[in-house]
Amino acid sequence: MFDLHKKEKDIQKVEELLKFFLFKKDYSLGEVISKRVSFPIDKLDFLINKLQKQGYDISFNPHLGFRLESIPDKLDVGLIRAGLDTKKIGKEIYVFDTINSTNDAIFNIALKGAKEGSVVIAARQTKGRGRQGRTWISPKGGIYLSILLVPDIDFERITIFNIIGALAVAETLNKFFNIDVSIKWPNDVYLKDKKLCGVLAEIKKIHKKKDVLILGIGININSSLDMLPEQSASLKVCMNRQVNKVLILWEVLKQIETYYNLYKNREFSYILGKWKSYSFMLGHQIEITEGKSVLEGYVINIDPSNGNLIIRLDSGLEKVVTGGCMKILK
Ligand code: BTN
Repeated sequence: MFDLHKKEKDIQKVEELLKFFLFKKDYSLGEVISKRVSFPIDKLDFLINKLQKQGYDISFNPHLGFRLESIPDKLDVGLIRAGLDTKKIGKEIYVFDTINSTNDAIFNIALKGAKEGSVVIAARQTKGRGRQGRTWISPKGGIYLSILLVPDIDFERITIFNIIGALAVAETLNKFFNIDVSIKWPNDVYLKDKKLCGVLAEIKKIHKKKDVLILGIGININSSLDMLPEQSASLKVCMNRQVNKVLILWEVLKQIETYYNLYKNREFSYILGKWKSYSFMLGHQIEITEGKSVLEGYVINIDPSNGNLIIRLDSGLEKVVTGGCMKILK
């Protein structure tokens, strides 16, 4: 009993030390660390060793002290929690190695009363779902996450959440890597002409409670192309190196929080303006297929209040498009 208590305390101290290192980002003397994590200085090596054994690279300089050099590429709940710099998104996190679908998992957790901002993350999905009933192939190497939101929303505005999800990923990639990232309406993130990320926003009913919005995002980070459908991109293949998934995850969640706050403040024009800066289809001739209906038209704009696409048909008539599968013709 006593030992178990000590073990829990050690785990807590290791998490505190990790948090300290992640936000400090520079060397710190042993005395300073020991004070900040309230741990005896002569036992600090014990905590540092624990982190090193888990794959954290920590360097030591006799004059400057310790510094965290790199973190493991591991979807570990302690690590994700320790480095997450958000107020609401990700305050409750559930991480799975393998799950059917993170969108389904978060819905089940929501039924049990999970709070807004809860996140489910998986390293692999066996029944990943895409838009329009398609499957989202989800092998190891990618990140699959779903966020529980409770916005004031009706089905009319759901597209804006697809846009927010895609924007969060595009902004993250733009910040970390100098690559040619673009968004195809409403929710696909592309690297050149290949799809890197998909977003699935779903509104679900919870008995006697406000409807919830589940924002699911799948990104091909270190995925092998031979495991993915044709026309897919993988960040690793594009960058020619392994990319740390946790760094991407932290930033995506931070961006979601930023854009969700903008949504709540009704800054739709700002969100749409940002989206336009990544969009590669304004001014193009497109074909939209939804069920059996096929439409062809010229993309004029998107409606800032709900994210719907506005196209001009060959007849000259304008039409609002709320969903469907889009192909750029020219
Ligand atoms: C699409 O482009 O069709 C949307 C793909 C959305 C995939 C993500 S992966 C995480 C979340 N869980 C799912 O089952 N689907 C979404």
